[in-house]
Amino acid sequence: MNLILMGLPGAGKGTQAEKIVEKYQIPHISTGDMFRLAIKEGTELGTKAKSFMDQGELVPDEVTIGIVRERLSKDDCEKGFLLDGFPRTIAQAKALDDLLMDMSKSLDYVLHVDVPMEQLVERLTGRRICPTCGATYHNEFNPPEQEGVCDKDGSALIQRKDDQPETVSKRLEVNLEQTQPMLDYYRDKGYLVSINGSQEIDKVFQDIDDKLGDLV
Ligand code: AP5
Ligand code: ZN
Repeated sequence: MNLILMGLPGAGKGTQAEKIVEKYQIPHISTGDMFRLAIKEGTELGTKAKSFMDQGELVPDEVTIGIVRERLSKDDCEKGFLLDGFPRTIAQAKALDDLLMDMSKSLDYVLHVDVPMEQLVERLTGRRICPTCGATYHNEFNPPEQEGVCDKDGSALIQRKDDQPETVSKRLEVNLEQTQPMLDYYRDKGYLVSINGSQEIDKVFQDIDDKLGDLV
């Protein structure tokens, strides 16, 4: 199962990705998570990515394509993969086409989690994440059992640096510009599946899961 999960910041990609990979046992490849880990570990990649991410800008294509190329070459991707937040530009989409061709693989679906703009700001500003296991919560829409504490490991939840209101508007603006050409690109190739992402989390997953049922 070779999948891409697309959607604007806050659409629920990370939330749905957790559920998809748990059920279908394929690796979750999130470029955002990979950059955040690199920043936390203080690697060269982290240094390159940090200034762009803090400003709500995209990390340059050559850097992003490089890390995805390396990740897709790992053995665990033999059984499939879920790309989350990549590709985000036409240059990245074309680079992915070349990579997949070299690996003799093709995409099954590009799942576009579609959420109206006005819901995204409140989803992003209310999001809290676990610094230990990466789990995602929302103060209102998906609260942990105990306020401010991760259900899985008891860590204190934090806010992502790029979820401050000023950065959120920049991220939405930058990503909105890239989205339409990407949707057209994958619609033309016949891979695009649109998912109504403004429903409850479990209902969104049910719709995705119904679609993935075609593949198993
Ligand atoms: P990345 O980490 O990919 O962030 P993003 O695309 O901005 O997406 P988010 O993680 O913010 O949102 P999400 O869709 O995963 O939503 P979530 O499930 O958390 O990228 C970060 C940065 O890295 C980029 O800005 C860029 O700088 C760089 N980068 C990454 N990839 C790149 C690339 N390919 N090229 C260049 N640069 C790249 O949900 C959001 C909130 O809503 C949560 O609190 C959740 O609990 C809640 N929620 C989820 N679903 C629902 C629902 N159905 N109803 C109500 N609430 C919900
Ligand atoms: Zn946790």
